[in-house]
Amino acid sequence: MGSSKKSYRLAVIPGDGIGAEIISEGMKVVQAVAERYGFGIETEEYDFGGDRYLKTGETLPESAISELKKFDAIYLGAVGHPDVAPGILEKEILLKIRFELDQYINLRPVKLYPGVWHPLKDKGPAEIDYIVVRENTEGAYSGIGGSVKKGTPDEIATQLDVNTRKGVERCIRYAFEYARKRNRKKTLTVVDKANVLTFAGDLWRRTAVELGRDFQDVKLDFAFVDATCMWMVKNPEWFDVIVTSNMFGDIITDLGAMTQGGLGIAAGGNINPEGVSMFEPIHGSAPKYTGKNVACPIATISAGGMMLETLGEEGAADMIEKAVIKATGEGYIKSLEAGKMGMGTREAGDLLAKFVKEING
Ligand code: IPM
Ligand code: MN
Repeated sequence: MGSSKKSYRLAVIPGDGIGAEIISEGMKVVQAVAERYGFGIETEEYDFGGDRYLKTGETLPESAISELKKFDAIYLGAVGHPDVAPGILEKEILLKIRFELDQYINLRPVKLYPGVWHPLKDKGPAEIDYIVVRENTEGAYSGIGGSVKKGTPDEIATQLDVNTRKGVERCIRYAFEYARKRNRKKTLTVVDKANVLTFAGDLWRRTAVELGRDFQDVKLDFAFVDATCMWMVKNPEWFDVIVTSNMFGDIITDLGAMTQGGLGIAAGGNINPEGVSMFEPIHGSAPKYTGKNVACPIATISAGGMMLETLGEEGAADMIEKAVIKATGEGYIKSLEAGKMGMGTREAGDLLAKFVKEING
């Protein structure tokens, strides 16, 4: 029977800093749950990141994109290296993969697990549970712009915020469908800055209203991004599914991560619904914690759960979620802060791997 079982091929990119440590814990849990649910995982590791770049001058080799397209999914630790100028690895590895693989959705749950310390004292797991659908291939990230008279007092720099009808539409449609499938409050909030960035705001709002005709069961709402930051703190229970542009999504999901207890638990997926998706914790490479066995691997483990869900292994994904709830809710993990978990990175991975095998399904 073993030979006929379903198997998935993953490209694993540990990346920089704590990337290798957290990805190996993530893989430990993914393998453990795969064993329980009877599917296989084959991996191929890629050494893309700062060390490789410093040694060879290469960020992504020529063949990388076409190779990555052949996998079922990509599992990424983090990129960012203290000896490499900011922007190089981010643009030439992370953003390049997102763009070239057309991973046009960046899906980021903001969910408070039981037992997790967080800064909103009057809110609990029932109030902090929504998801951000971040547009992931255009907006201010499109790389269009330039500078003139650089280094002079007359220097001008422009960075264009590109919003295409197609890009906006596919993102909002995904968000509507997500709200329907999630089946909770069935509310979609479009977050923008339509009171100042009127052209982009108009395109987003008009598109949402038009698409909304096909989603009469989903309530459509609009909010400005600054006010959204306030409500994410004051009334997070108002949100169900948020859809927003690349830059706003980047900013608000770091805030969201804090309200769910920190970057140690915030996971994300770069989704191409028709192609190859990539899953990663939303935090960075945290160079100062590298090699110390102190980083919290839960965000990466949860990203592994999102990966399995996207691959169609809902039972296994749900088991990872249950394992995280048990680990936080029953006090096994004391804190999500690096060095304060009450155990090391590896031990946290071992614990979660044990839970995904043992918890009653
Ligand atoms: C994220 C990160 C990236 C982004 C950086 C590293 C390019 O902050 O995934 O949120 O801005 O998208
Ligand atoms: Mn970010």
